[in-house]
Amino acid sequence: MEIKKIEIGTNYFYQVCDYIENHITKENLSKNGGTLNYNNLTYNSDILLVASDNGIPIGYNSIVKYNKGLYIYQIAVKKEYQNKGIGTLMLKKAIEIAEEQNTFVTAHVMNYNIASQKMFLNLGFKKIDEDEKTGNGFYALNQLKIKRNK
Ligand SMILES: CC(C)(COP(=O)(O)OP(=O)(O)OC[C@H]1O[C@@H](n2cnc3c(N)ncnc32)[C@H](O)[C@@H]1OP(=O)(O)O)[C@@H](O)C(=O)NCCC(=O)NCCS
Repeated sequence: MEIKKIEIGTNYFYQVCDYIENHITKENLSKNGGTLNYNNLTYNSDILLVASDNGIPIGYNSIVKYNKGLYIYQIAVKKEYQNKGIGTLMLKKAIEIAEEQNTFVTAHVMNYNIASQKMFLNLGFKKIDEDEKTGNGFYALNQLKIKRNK
């Protein structure tokens, strides 16, 4: 299993995202209420991490530079490869990238998404805000850097 980091311009980014969506997420994202919408990914500095097994993509993490920090736009692992540490590995890589850039990482996680919450909390993220009605949370790593960069 390998994780590749791809930084791509807008046009190519959409092509790659379509490909990844078709191969990885259709079967598990809809079930989890997630929908893919890459319209917000506009800059050529956006980052895509792709986990692959013998050349076949099995997971991805799209990361957007947002408000000076990195925002985990989506992270998903193909169903039959879930719960094997691949999501955690991709998120660790995203954290490494943030550290290289001396910045913070944020993400939104649905209240019902237990696996995702565990993954973020295990890697040191803190829930720093919560929607009162839904319990959906805003998670962050390196909040001190958030303050510094503001
Ligand atoms: C969320 C997701 C990316 C996690 O990736 P993963 O490779 O399966 O996760 P990992 O194997 O690294 O495990 C991370 C933690 O989640 C837990 N976990 C994984 N699958 C789980 C499940 N089905 N139920 C409960 N916990 C689960 C693991 O046990 C681990 O926690 P632990 O070490 O404390 O036991 C993956 O489940 C997924 O693609 N889900 C669908 C898309 C999605 O919801 N994305 C997140 C949007 S914020």
